[in-house]
Amino acid sequence: MSSTAGASGGAGASGSGASGLLTEIDHVAIAVRDLDAAAAYYRATFGAEVAHREQIESDGVEEALIKVADSYVQLISPTRPDSPVAKFLEAKGEGLHHVGYRVADCAAALDAVRAAGGRLIDETPRPGSRGTTVAFVHPKGALGTLIELVQE
Ligand code: CO
Repeated sequence: MSSTAGASGGAGASGSGASGLLTEIDHVAIAVRDLDAAAAYYRATFGAEVAHREQIESDGVEEALIKVADSYVQLISPTRPDSPVAKFLEAKGEGLHHVGYRVADCAAALDAVRAAGGRLIDETPRPGSRGTTVAFVHPKGALGTLIELVQE
């Protein structure tokens, strides 16, 4: 194959749905007060089971992941009062918190956001849950949406 399928070139587009640097929706994150109650809601309402649960100490959150096709619903609740998610819940209540986009190379995607004048929360990629590498882009400058770049 000599033709380049994606604009990024050499990023190894595994699926045909890749759009530029974004290869897939990794997860949609929903901030909740009670993780067990939220998981129970998804189970009772949609028959959806939690596939993975993990505490991310650096972020002060616990997550419960519900797998939907190749993506996840990520239920997150704070593990301590000074967690950013605790502050989010206090200010806005439960609801949509951020969108995680899968990328082939988190550092390269972060550089692209920086080069485009975007505002970053993480200046460099850092460890996320499930052994991923992640970086957050500030909602101011990103159409009001907190964006997480996720490299598996
Ligand atoms: Co996330």
